[in-house]
Amino acid sequence: MIDCDPGIDDAVALMLAAASPGLSVRAVTATFGNVGLDATARNALAVCELVGLDVPVHAGADRPLVRDVIGGRTFHGDAGLGGVVLPPPARDLAPGHAVDAIRAAVHGSPGEVTLVVTGAMTNVALALRLDPGLVAGVRRLVFMGGSTEAGNVTPAAEFNALADPHAMRVVLDSGIPLTMFGLNVTHRVLATPDRIARIRALGNPVAEAAATMLGFYLESYRVRYGWTGAALHDPCTIAHLLDPTLFTVVPMHVTVDTNEGPNFGRTTCDARRLGGQPPNVDVAVDADADRFFDLLAGALARY
Ligand code: BDR
Ligand code: CA
Repeated sequence: MIDCDPGIDDAVALMLAAASPGLSVRAVTATFGNVGLDATARNALAVCELVGLDVPVHAGADRPLVRDVIGGRTFHGDAGLGGVVLPPPARDLAPGHAVDAIRAAVHGSPGEVTLVVTGAMTNVALALRLDPGLVAGVRRLVFMGGSTEAGNVTPAAEFNALADPHAMRVVLDSGIPLTMFGLNVTHRVLATPDRIARIRALGNPVAEAAATMLGFYLESYRVRYGWTGAALHDPCTIAHLLDPTLFTVVPMHVTVDTNEGPNFGRTTCDARRLGGQPPNVDVAVDADADRFFDLLAGALARY
């Protein structure tokens, strides 16, 4: 199950997953985030159609549990896909809320379903509050969010963590086996102009859409941070499932700050086990970016 807020890098994560025979995607669920829920759900559906991923796409939460939506973002473009206009989806969103889709998938195949979350954790947190028995049925939850280091929206907080810190706290405290891809590692996986050109040169419509989105994303990184590469955060989750040797993970105890103030949304990752709490998350700490891009280019070449 892929719970996402497309979003350029979410879209690339879907492209990577759909092109990879090693993964069987059961369903896609959308949450608010990079843009509003109407747009993220529509984008999820449109990307699924582009890549031929014929699975139900469900809309979920349109706002965080407690705080307000982070507004005014243009990082992924007004409509979320960096100005790429995909054909209008021929099918509709699947009936039923994302929360119910997650519950049905997990209970339908206990111990088999991996949840991949590349946006705020609101849908999963709602599912866990509604249905605490879910914990035992989830094989693992792999997420992009947080950081062992600094933030990217505030000095302390990463976007997905800040988007709904209370939901992230529910998930971190849940007991589900967790794997985290935070900024500390996703900032090592940069879509540079050369890597984007390699993707465009594949010459098929999916690769071209990806390259155009990534060109926009690169410009966002240049304007906002002065970087010459755009972090491919969300596809790291999928790449890790496809090839665990691409990333180094270390078990740590992770918490998220839900107190209003300068550290709101900050994840604290106890790498040195100073707090005496048992690890609750396998935290990715290193990446082989060249092999990641080989994997991505190889997948996109299949379209
Ligand atoms: C995360 O925030 C979003 O902008 C991206 O899609 C990614 O999930 C990175 O902080
Ligand atoms: Ca995302």
